[in-house]
Amino acid sequence: MKRIAILGSTGSIGRSTLSVVEAHPERFSVVALAAGSNVAAALEQAKRWRPRLLSMATSRAADELARKLKGAGCGDIEVVHGSAGAIRVATHPEVDFVVSAIVGVAGLEATYEAVRAGKSVGLANKECLVAAGELITAEAKKHGKPLLPIDSEHNAVHQCMRGGRLEEVQSVWLTASGGPFLDTPASEFSRITVEEALNHPTWKMGQRITIDSATLMNKGFEVIEACRLFGLAPSRVKVIVHPQSTIHSLVEFVDGSLLAQLSVTDMRLPILYALTWPERIPSGLRYSVNDLRHLDFRQPDMQKFPCLALAYEAAEAGGARTVALNAADEVAVAAFLEGSIGFDEIPRVIRDVLKETDVRHPESIKQVLAMDSEARQLARERVEQLKSRKAGTRRPVVAK
Ligand SMILES: NC(=O)c1ccc[n+]([C@@H]2O[C@H](COP(=O)([O-])OP(=O)(O)OC[C@H]3O[C@@H](n4cnc5c(N)ncnc54)[C@H](OP(=O)(O)O)[C@@H]3O)[C@@H](O)[C@H]2O)c1
Repeated sequence: MKRIAILGSTGSIGRSTLSVVEAHPERFSVVALAAGSNVAAALEQAKRWRPRLLSMATSRAADELARKLKGAGCGDIEVVHGSAGAIRVATHPEVDFVVSAIVGVAGLEATYEAVRAGKSVGLANKECLVAAGELITAEAKKHGKPLLPIDSEHNAVHQCMRGGRLEEVQSVWLTASGGPFLDTPASEFSRITVEEALNHPTWKMGQRITIDSATLMNKGFEVIEACRLFGLAPSRVKVIVHPQSTIHSLVEFVDGSLLAQLSVTDMRLPILYALTWPERIPSGLRYSVNDLRHLDFRQPDMQKFPCLALAYEAAEAGGARTVALNAADEVAVAAFLEGSIGFDEIPRVIRDVLKETDVRHPESIKQVLAMDSEARQLARERVEQLKSRKAGTRRPVVAK
């Protein structure tokens, strides 16, 4: 029986993980959960899974949950909160495996502490590796514990890597669906609405990653993630647009062989793979080869999607630049979602923040978090400038 903790249990990946656990009760049990602010969902999960420990992002949410749990006869479940609470979930002594799926840098400390505590970790949260991949992978190596990628592309690469040794790998090819604006002219990007950007063609995901998929920043993060997970230079991690998202990624070996992984576009499969590795177990997640029709590929357009080029630049520099890339993107995406900046202004904010970020290499998570705050501050200032410029160009309303 594998005993599991889920960081981000109320999110898209968290729920998919619980659905995998539900399908295999003989293999997995839930020990601890961490959520953000969705008390109603956390309450339902607590009643269903009876974890020993549950953490919420704030003391207010935790108090509300604890009160409701008591009323529902589940007062034995301990409720904690904040980053300290998420760390307790991630390091609970009864936990064997931690699924890291809190969105953004909020999941960083708990994920790092899980690795430090010698847990096996299934990583969905890509921001952890982008901001602090060097530290996290070094710690995992020290403990001899695997970091199992749940992100579908890296999960695919992990699977293909079983076909050869790391020294035999020529390149890794990450496939990109291209997002909803693959064929939209760049001249129309300033008019893209939040609703349009949230309409991803192949995957249903949380809001941040959906916007990141539309700008191709998600693919940029994945390049950095791949470099860190598999120890590859950025020049050996390539991106190819594949709108059907049937092939989740490929590995090219030195002898010219290319191995690809194909499967349904359902995150339960990479989650199951990570939870059962190095075994494979039967599942109902089938992809019919008879449905295989067109597999289209094209080069990504880095001019139209500058976020991808910015991510390669940050990957080359490493350290503070990748911390800043993630922080600036998080702020810019939030500003776009609340209507403060345009879709085309997301890369502008990130570019300006990167320009002002010196290359330094953090030696601790504390330093990563300090760099993250600095970059966020710069990004917020840039967003404010763009907002006031927009307000300045608006015509004053003149009373008749
Ligand atoms: N969805 C996918 O298919 C997919 C694929 C590959 C990788 N990923 C990565 O997986 C991660 C999660 O993505 P998602 O799509 O599942 O996101 P999501 O649906 O937005 O869920 C995010 C989760 O994080 C929790 N959370 C947010 N802030 C928190 C905080 N301060 N403390 C504790 N918990 C907090 C949320 O809790 P509440 O809802 O309770 O507020 C929720 O449980 C992201 O890093 C994403 O890039 C996702």
